[in-house]
Amino acid sequence: MSAPSMTLFHNPASPYVRKVMVLLHETGQLDRVTLQHSQLTPVSPDATLNQDNPLGKIPALRLADGNVLYDSRVILDYLDQQHVGNPLIPREGSARWRRLTLAALADGIMDASVMIRYELALRAPEKHWDQWLDAQREKIRRALAVLEADAIAELTSHFDVAAISVACALGYLDFRHPDLEWRKTHPQLSAWFTEVSLRPSMLATQPPV
Ligand code: BEZ
Repeated sequence: MSAPSMTLFHNPASPYVRKVMVLLHETGQLDRVTLQHSQLTPVSPDATLNQDNPLGKIPALRLADGNVLYDSRVILDYLDQQHVGNPLIPREGSARWRRLTLAALADGIMDASVMIRYELALRAPEKHWDQWLDAQREKIRRALAVLEADAIAELTSHFDVAAISVACALGYLDFRHPDLEWRKTHPQLSAWFTEVSLRPSMLATQPPV
């Protein structure tokens, strides 16, 4: 086995990082990456990370030549072009745009979920903006409804960028927002998620307890 040639700024709580880790597992590339733990919030940045990613966001991937890739979508695309197995992001055609759109829908669930997390965990209760929180929850609700109604067959068909992204978004909802009880109203999505959660890549990347 050769020494890892890339460094991934990593935090096991981040659903965006989890997408990258799941893809590394699924494509057999784990040993190419060293993990660099990054402890950060929007108001307590990681100074080392900021030198590589001026946006101060994880994941960021430093390549062997010193170039740094971000954000998670770019990293997924890059890593998917570095292995010899079946692509997890279709290279062309309508499948490419459909699967990337489903992945973007999942990223939107993550975005809203992480925003809610920051607002609730980092700001004093008397400063919480309830109308804004409700609007974020509505985004999640609408996105889950579309996945439940329109995307189950596509998610089931193969575990690619779309399925990985949705699985990581649902995992983050369970981790940070169990109060939303998304499973109660999305039985098909719930059954699908229960099944894919047993994949070694998902088991190995579960958020911390
Ligand atoms: C979290 O603790 O929920 C979190 C950590 C890093 C990035 C996003 C979310």
